[in-house]
Amino acid sequence: MSNPLTDRRIVLGVSGSIAAYKAAEITSRLVQAGAEVDVALTRAATEFITPLTFRSLTAREPYVDMFRPHGEYGEAHVELARQADLMVIAPATASTMARLVNGLADDFVSLTALATQAPILIAPAMDSQMWEHEATRANRYTLEGRGVTLVGPVPGRLASGRIGSGRMAEPATIVDAIKVRLGQARGDLAARRIVVTAGGTREAIDPVRYVGNHSSGKMGYAIAEAARDRGAEVILITTAALPDPHGVRVVRVESALELQRAVEAECPQAKALVMAAAVADYRPSEAAEQKMKRADASELAVDLVENPDVIALVSGDFVKIAFAAETENLIENAIGKLERKGAQLIVANDVTATDAGFGTDTNRVTILDRDGGAEILPLMSKYEVAVRVLDRVAALLADQES
Ligand code: CTP
Repeated sequence: MSNPLTDRRIVLGVSGSIAAYKAAEITSRLVQAGAEVDVALTRAATEFITPLTFRSLTAREPYVDMFRPHGEYGEAHVELARQADLMVIAPATASTMARLVNGLADDFVSLTALATQAPILIAPAMDSQMWEHEATRANRYTLEGRGVTLVGPVPGRLASGRIGSGRMAEPATIVDAIKVRLGQARGDLAARRIVVTAGGTREAIDPVRYVGNHSSGKMGYAIAEAARDRGAEVILITTAALPDPHGVRVVRVESALELQRAVEAECPQAKALVMAAAVADYRPSEAAEQKMKRADASELAVDLVENPDVIALVSGDFVKIAFAAETENLIENAIGKLERKGAQLIVANDVTATDAGFGTDTNRVTILDRDGGAEILPLMSKYEVAVRVLDRVAALLADQES
């Protein structure tokens, strides 16, 4: 499946906060990703946003009035609760959190939360004084203790005009948190540690200059996000300045030697290492301590020494997936590398194509394996490529575990 939200049944509970308007964006993002979204609103929420907004976005009747039968179901709340793959409450006010803690069921949101067996995720939104109050703090710990996932709140400008913690997390973050939670609940890589490397290494010449390459890191980030969406515990070792993916532990490095140290440190407990990073094969033999000045000479030579082959040297009880960025003889070169790197799979791509490879959001790859198999994939998004690579990783792990 290329999107973890496709056909998932999500109940979105909306309670009465000014952040309720952002629930419309959450709904829209979920629907666009293929989820079936039912929205339940508290009465207070309808003071901030109308059910019509959600009906328009979901083409389904929102749940508001507990005393009026809803649609085809007499016991609407029980049905809604039973069918959900996940319930998210965004925004969750201090009152709604207190209702959940006490098992109250006097509106559609708290009632569905009480009736469901599905994982619950809440995105609190309130003034910082309410968020920091002992009562809310205690409620938060109680909910976490019961397995409820909290996303946010984040620091920022609050409705009161004050700056503080209590602002609801951004819709994109909440949607990512939903993917993470769904992956943990039923993903085929759940509870497995996967180490992913991304980006091109930078080998210092002096404090301001480096030898580098064109790798953007996008392929590695897509692998990290797709593995996270399948429930893996992901460690992303990266040189790229892209935003940290939600729910992924990010280790920032610059050079091949730093990357090697991080890989060696993170791999012992891992089930798989996916080396999407473009590691420089050579580095300046010495990095100057001060910025090098223009000299009188018309030529300048920088001596290079070999870097370690990180993937070939790291050993342990995990599967290794290499990447091969080639400009010629793609398959032949990649097969040679598969052996040399001691990898189980190698993902080969021709970086001279304009719609695939460096910096693009799409890629066209061939996945080669030890048995001589070549899975030739058409042009697809890097996330979809990541899904196909992880399908193979999941199959290798399943073989190992059986
Ligand atoms: N790799 C590595 N350490 C290096 C060089 C590469 O771990 N010092 C990894 C890359 O992350 C990738 C795979 O090896 O997964 C192949 O990288 P590539 O640069 O294509 O291969 P090289 O061995 O450098 O071969 P060449 O430069 O000759 O194509």
